[in-house]
Amino acid sequence: MTETTYVGAVDQGTTGTRFIVFDHSGQVVANAYETHEQIYPEPGWVEHDPMEIWENTKAVITQALGQAGISPEQLEAIGVTNQRETTLLWNADSGKPVHNAIVWQDRRTTERVEALEEDGMVETIREKTGLEADAYFSATKAEWLLENADPIKMERSRPDDIRDRAERGDVLFGTIDSWLIYNLTGNHITEVTNASRTMLYNIHDLEWDDDLLSEFDIPREMLPEVRPSSDDDTYGSTHPEGFLEAEIPVAGALGDQQAALFGQTCFDAGDAKNTYGTGSFFLMNTGNEAVESDHGLLTTIGFQRSGEPAQYALEGSIFITGAAVEWLEDVSLIDNPAQTAELARSVDSTDGVYVVPAFTGLGAPHWDQRARGTIVGMTRGTKKEHIVRATLESIAYQTRDVAEAMVADSGIEMRSLKVDGGAVKNNYLCQLQSDIIGSEIVRPVVDETTALGSAYAAGLAVNYWDDVDSLRNNWQVDREFDPEMDSDTADARYGRWQDAVDRSLGWAND
Ligand code: G3P
Repeated sequence: MTETTYVGAVDQGTTGTRFIVFDHSGQVVANAYETHEQIYPEPGWVEHDPMEIWENTKAVITQALGQAGISPEQLEAIGVTNQRETTLLWNADSGKPVHNAIVWQDRRTTERVEALEEDGMVETIREKTGLEADAYFSATKAEWLLENADPIKMERSRPDDIRDRAERGDVLFGTIDSWLIYNLTGNHITEVTNASRTMLYNIHDLEWDDDLLSEFDIPREMLPEVRPSSDDDTYGSTHPEGFLEAEIPVAGALGDQQAALFGQTCFDAGDAKNTYGTGSFFLMNTGNEAVESDHGLLTTIGFQRSGEPAQYALEGSIFITGAAVEWLEDVSLIDNPAQTAELARSVDSTDGVYVVPAFTGLGAPHWDQRARGTIVGMTRGTKKEHIVRATLESIAYQTRDVAEAMVADSGIEMRSLKVDGGAVKNNYLCQLQSDIIGSEIVRPVVDETTALGSAYAAGLAVNYWDDVDSLRNNWQVDREFDPEMDSDTADARYGRWQDAVDRSLGWAND
């Protein structure tokens, strides 16, 4: 009897690392998860320890396989998906990071980005990379690391020689996909959707861009080779003497938001999804055309399969949604996120309260690095239930902000939106989202679409799945939510939300 085989996916997110094993029908067979430390060295700075992330990656792979009694050899391939933009440098000889990774949420390079505006670089960056100049992306983080990584922590290094070593290719740059692929296979590789978030990669030519490398003083020698998201040649294999004691091809990778697009089988132009995690990321496939946004969205690479042109996407990146619920917990307004629905339902409305969770500035469509969190409309009668409800509503309003921009840019009317991510288990939030946005919300059975997307990318590369049609057949609806609020009410509340956002803009200027 032949043994059943599977595809595994590492999902390395902002708050933790997951490994999921999927079977041929795209169902979850095993799932293990570990969180890692969030390091806040200064206000506005966010770091992760790359070694902790790698140790957790090995641990969750081992745990998940053990849980399901699956041997590593039963994995036909491994896919990788990851928090995007988060940046690190490591020593090529020892494989050890030279500094903690700088996380996508980190704002330490805000002033550097403002200088780009003064230098007139904003338009060039938009044209070449499809991105808004912002501290969110990797370029200014890499530049900061080259200038500031503590040389004492580097093995065998003299003070001040990180840049010299980078110029010789002895210090390597990578985003988290690259770090994991390097540790899994020994090869210094990234893939195209992750490269498209660095602000160093030309999304039209599909090349690292010389002008941008020179603007940020990034030596080309330290950059990884860029490969398709689903790579028939594979990125390499795990080492037979490594932690898995087996040679498993690592054959697919995607930034987590693009992975969710792939996992939701949004393969055609006009297909869209919104993922509710730490932040929310609304992506619409625009086919082989890189559509330029006039409404504050990003143009980014959606995915690329071996031998095929890249597919592009428009993206609305919302920095804080699930993290706003975490904040409610941090300040003890709730004991756990599951409570939010009950507390929100216990009041009829927010009683005029609006929470704008601009804790790390605002992303799409406002792109204001100096916006800060704001609560408006409180009275002596405001209760914690109102604030909890207003926080959930902020998730739905921010999504409407980007949905409106998406419709304006694409000219496609949105009738239905596929959703995924941890928060969509919350029926209250899904209904609220449908009410505020005025269209149908569709939740799939498998809500781990991020991991699923990278498993699909890896599995297609090794012919575990034959084609995208078989993936479409795997996709099933769990529940649909239709608008129940009348559109005048939704519009009036949304108008007040926009007023509240105005009050949060530019706050950190003062
Ligand atoms: O761009 C940042 C995004 O990739 C982070 O996603 O799910 O780790 O919050 P997540």
